[in-house]
Parts: sequence; C-alpha cells; structure tokens
Amino acid sequence: MDKFIIQGGKKLSGSVKVSGSKNSSLALMPASILASGKSVLKNTPELNDVFTMSKLLKHLGAEINFNNEILKIDSSRINEFTAPYEHVKKMRASVYVLGPLLARFGKAKVSLPGGCAWGPRPVNLHLEAMKKLGADIDLKDGYIVAEAKKLKGTKINFDVSSVGATGNAMMAASLAEGATLINNAAIEPEITQLAEFLVKMGALIDGIGTNTIAIQGVAELHSTEITTIPDRIETGTLLIAAAITNGNITLIETSSEHLEAVLLKLEDCGCKITREPKKISIDARNIELNPVSITTSIFPGFPTDMQAQWTALMSIVNGVSTVTDTIYFDRFKHVPELNRLGAQIVLDQNTAVVTGAKKLRGAKVMSTDLRASASLVLAGLVAEGTTEVLRVYHLDRGYQRIEEKLKSLGADIRRVESKEY
Ligand code: UD1
Repeated sequence: MDKFIIQGGKKLSGSVKVSGSKNSSLALMPASILASGKSVLKNTPELNDVFTMSKLLKHLGAEINFNNEILKIDSSRINEFTAPYEHVKKMRASVYVLGPLLARFGKAKVSLPGGCAWGPRPVNLHLEAMKKLGADIDLKDGYIVAEAKKLKGTKINFDVSSVGATGNAMMAASLAEGATLINNAAIEPEITQLAEFLVKMGALIDGIGTNTIAIQGVAELHSTEITTIPDRIETGTLLIAAAITNGNITLIETSSEHLEAVLLKLEDCGCKITREPKKISIDARNIELNPVSITTSIFPGFPTDMQAQWTALMSIVNGVSTVTDTIYFDRFKHVPELNRLGAQIVLDQNTAVVTGAKKLRGAKVMSTDLRASASLVLAGLVAEGTTEVLRVYHLDRGYQRIEEKLKSLGADIRRVESKEY
C-alpha cells in the first residue's frame, strides 16, 4: 500500500491541466449500456473508481478499451444483469447500473451498497424512483432485485435532491414508455452532462440544468461520443493547495462556472482569482488569509466534496471559522487527523469550529475516505517538517496521480511503497 511523504513549506507556482470529472464519468459509463454499440468517452480520468466501474461493466459483458483518457465502451454483448457485492462494496456509484439494466433488459440485480466510511448512504430514493417507473423491487440476501417487462413514464417527486437518484431515474425514464416528470431533480454539472449525453444518444429531455426534468421515453437509444467535463473537485483541491501555501497557479482545461461557490469563498479569504475561458488562476502570494465560514449545500452551493479541504485551509488561517456540512452530517473523519498535525478543530454535531493555528507540524496521518485524504495532503503541504499520509489508495480512487500534479507545481511530495496500514 502506498503512502505520500511530503516536506511542507513549498509555495506552489506554475500551471497544470485538470482531469475529467470522476463523478461525470461514473454516470456516463453506465449510461452507455442503455444502447447497443460503441460509446466513446473522451477526457475520462485515469483513476481507480473509473477502473472499478470498467470492471463492473466488463462483468456485465461490455468490452472496454481505455487509452490516453479515451474510454471506449462496446455494450453490444451485455449478457449479465447482476452487479455483485465485490464491485459495489468498493464503490457506491455502482448502483448507477440499476436504471440502465432495468430499462434496456427488464431486469437487474444490484448489491446493496451499505454505508460509507463516514456514515450511512441510503439508496431509498433510487428504489422509489424505479418503483414509480413500474419496476417490482425486492430486497433479498443483500441485493436489490428489480424487474419490469417495460418501464412506464410517471411523475417522480424527490423529497431530497439526490445526484445519484436523479441520474438513475433519468437513465431509466429515457427508455420508458411515455412521459416522465422529475421534480426536485439534482442540478449538479455532472447530472447536466449526463442529460446532455442521453440527448446525444437520442433521448428526449426537457428542462436540462433545472430542477424539473421532463423526459419523453423512446424505444431505443444509440451509442455516441462525448467529452467529459473537467473535475470541479480536483480544481477546487488544487486551488486550495495554492492558497494554503501562499502560491500562485493557473489551472487549465477547467471551468469556473462549476465552482463559483468555492471561488467566491477564496476571494473572501483574500485570494485573487482570475476567471478566463477554460482557465482559473489564483494568486495568494504575500497575503494573510482571512477566516471564512462555509456551509455545504446542493449545487450551486458549496460542495460537500470540498468541505474537508476547506477545513484544512481554515486550520492555518488566523482567526475562527466554522465549517458546516448539511449534506453528510458525519463527514468529519479528517478532523482528528488534522488535529494531530496541530490544527485546533472542535466538532459540534455537523459543524467544525476551526481556530487557526499559527503552524501545523508534520506527522504520520491516515484517513478513511477520499476527500479527507485530500485535506491531509493539503495540510502536509504547509506543515513544518515531514508529513506522511498513509492509505493513499483513498486518494487514488478519485484523483488522477495528484502527487504528479502537485510536484509539477513545485510541491515536495513523493509516493513510496509502505507496509504501514
Ligand atoms: C454524489 C457524488 C458524491 C457527492 C454527493 C453529494 C457521485 C458518484 N458521487 O453522491 O461525490 O458527495 O453526490 O454532492 O456523483 N440520499 C438519500 N437517499 C438516497 C440517496 C441519497 O437519503 O437514496 C441522501 C444522502 O444521504 C445525502 C443526500 O441525499 O444526504 C445527497 O446524496 P446524493 O446526491 O444522492 O449523493 P450521491 O449521488 O450518492
């Protein structure tokens, strides 16, 4: 198992390309099995969650070819309809195959994902949507067993805005008989891209990018190609890497529109942000950052996937700030680890109260999930001395070789094999 060794204190500078969006890829890949034929997904990030989804689609009978960030999926010979526990337990987004399998083949058996390291992650909204579309759903031996001769258009009102459930419902409704209306649909950019991909495949969708999505089902979809949007969370993570080190960097092949909430907060901190087409620059040189509180919310609010990284940034800023997560109340596993580096963070239910420490000091740290690991790397970039971040496999799930990007910006970070867990 690899670990990162970081010598803190280097100010980042330079420019780097942002990879394609992990969460977009995890929706586009299963969408491609709605049609028989070869889909081409350009700008697909080379990271472990994408490899896990590839393995799952292969298990279902798809042929996969992945080279230089171009992912080709041939779904002409899908002949298996079960997503087994061994795949789903690695990645909850595996539940995205439920809608496509059910819509195209009339049956799907998908292992229940269970919880996440930081708490429960239910799939009730996915199941309610499939039931509304006319599927029979049974929960048996840890599996969702779903069947429907033909899905039928319906009205779906989500009580909670859910990225995954909206995606699953859109995919299923695209091949259902008749019209479907989805109220309180998620409007995260990854869902908007999924809708655009479905339209390219021949789906009839209105209201893309809004909370109300209307879908007129069609008998068949055809395979197509698309370029995956930039990863807004990788973008935000790298911007914070620059801010935390008082650096000055430019991110290319990215989009400021998908990350305004974070950019505005960085400006509140005192960073200078320059937005250009497909480019974001941040200049945090020679400034003392201000403490800025955030509360996570659905898009276009501050993303929960940036909460841990923001906590790391606030831990070195002079003054007190609060970080509140309203999407995942328990997503604070990074707090005790950041405190081991000298941060002063106290948890009060779903709010972290952060009193900026003058200095963080390097130590061995580890974490239990992807974004928490990212926050530890960020803290390591500014901590005095050596920080070792164990269990780098969490980072590898969602970032494409993040250490190489940081190194190219001047960070002193190495990946080494380690026997420590
Ligand atoms: C997606 C993202 C994840 C991000 C999250 C919130 C992917 C692959 N993952 O996850 O990185 O952190 O959006 O932006 O795109 N909920 C229910 N029942 C359900 C489904 C969700 O109660 O059936 C709740 C969740 O517990 C959570 C909220 O709805 O409180 C939002 O979750 P959701 O948007 O569904 O997250 P994911 O799609 O799993």
